[in-house]
Amino acid sequence: MPQSRLQPNLDPHALARELSGKLLIGGALRPAASGRTFPVENPATGEAIGAAAEGGAADVDLAVAAAAEAQKGWAKLASRERGRLVAECGRALNDHIEELGRLVALETGKALRTESRVEASVVADLFTYYGGLGSELKGETVPFRPDMLTMTIREPIGVVGAIIPWNVPIMLMAMKIAPALVAGNAVIVKAAEEAPLAALRACQIMNQVLPPGLFNLLTGDGPACGGPLVAHKGVGKVTFTGSVETGKIIYRTAAEKLIPVTLELGGKSPMIVMADADLDKAVAGAVTGMRFTRQGQSCTAASRIFVQEAAHDAFVDMLKAKVDAMKMGDPLDEATDIGAIISRPQYDKVMSYIRMGEETPGMRALRCSALPQDGKLKRGLFVQPVLFTGARNDSRIAREEIFGPVTCIIKFRDYEEAIRQANDSDYGLAATIWTRDLKTALDASHRLEAGFVQVNQNLVVQSNLSYGGVKNSGLGKEASLESMLEHFTHKKTIIINMG
Ligand code: NAI
Ligand code: MG
Repeated sequence: MPQSRLQPNLDPHALARELSGKLLIGGALRPAASGRTFPVENPATGEAIGAAAEGGAADVDLAVAAAAEAQKGWAKLASRERGRLVAECGRALNDHIEELGRLVALETGKALRTESRVEASVVADLFTYYGGLGSELKGETVPFRPDMLTMTIREPIGVVGAIIPWNVPIMLMAMKIAPALVAGNAVIVKAAEEAPLAALRACQIMNQVLPPGLFNLLTGDGPACGGPLVAHKGVGKVTFTGSVETGKIIYRTAAEKLIPVTLELGGKSPMIVMADADLDKAVAGAVTGMRFTRQGQSCTAASRIFVQEAAHDAFVDMLKAKVDAMKMGDPLDEATDIGAIISRPQYDKVMSYIRMGEETPGMRALRCSALPQDGKLKRGLFVQPVLFTGARNDSRIAREEIFGPVTCIIKFRDYEEAIRQANDSDYGLAATIWTRDLKTALDASHRLEAGFVQVNQNLVVQSNLSYGGVKNSGLGKEASLESMLEHFTHKKTIIINMG
């Protein structure tokens, strides 16, 4: 452990300036080879808070060389020792929860109390969880012949490329880095353009504990920096979270090299509320499920809510009242429940879907909560949450991922109709059903086409539960022991003939 441990810096503005224009390569903070930077903005005010280094192919080359070198020594450590060091990262990150939460709030516009601080604590938990799993990298022995010992072992892949989005930037990064490292790999992260600084800070904190070069953080444009990372011949696995379009580009590039990929893509997750459900619980579940506190910017957002006729009107009134009571405002203010949308293009996309819904005959937009009045937030990217009633499952609003605080409420008559519509989607990430009837709950759990089904609750991602979708929602699983074993190792079969 180095003598001078980083001290948390609770002033996110000062920290953003300090981290500006840097990449982490080979254990050192350095500018991009291009020397160029691009601005990072606070979406709640429109002000520039700092700048990120514009990494490109030359930086990817340097990072891959540093990672490949560091990985050799790392893979030779006992797996429990790797785990111990990853858990030590968890402790270091734990000391920086408040700092990281504030920086995430500043650069993403997500409220500190409801989202950003929670995200930072999950990051520490992910490192702690995976840190304990070093000795779980087990193989099997296979009965074959008495004079032969036949077994499998788990080997690291080598250098892993991790490309992350902006909506939960440090949590999604941790979900990729922690299992990859414990499994014996080195990692190169490409952070999102909109939210590069908290990711860089988290890597700087880990860099106090782990060998230099074992993980590296690049910032830069998607195609110009992420592209060469995926294509690099030294990268043996790519793990990605983001849009379906980018996921397909990455899959094609990876196919050329025949390397494995994990893709966590979008969603249009159904929530089915049966008339017999506990409506108070279902309404509270819709608020968390739809991630209104994250401005709906979640791949699992409950953006299609099917409510049975008899419960429909009460459900709509109760949900509207609950979202109305949420306070939109400065993300760094403890009183704020809902912050700002990440960027101008994303804001424009969300607003265009709201307009589309408003212009659709039969659909009604219920705008909730209230825009902040504070003068310094006038140029902020705030959007009032919208509940669309009278929506049809075949409308674009109900089929396409909006990634904003917009949900459709679709009335249904019978259960079969709800299941059919819930499954009539290009996506299959998450689903929930709300009912007091056990038979219905179990039947729906089997029939809903999704990677993650919950009954009468709506938990977010948990470290120890495998998570990932079907259909256009992606390939492979994240979180859990399974993700470390199946997605960050190669299995080798060994036969020793002693005859
Ligand atoms: P995106 O998928 O384009 O960006 C995600 C990451 O991929 C970023 O780090 C970006 O720089 C990188 N990237 C972009 N193009 C690349 C390429 N050709 N090669 C390698 N890396 C590349 O998503 P974006 O543009 O931020 O958002 C667009 C839409 O995607 C959103 O409106 C939303 O619907 C969806 N989305 C879904 C997310 C999820 O959690 N599943 C997260 C973020 C966005
Ligand atoms: Mg994009």
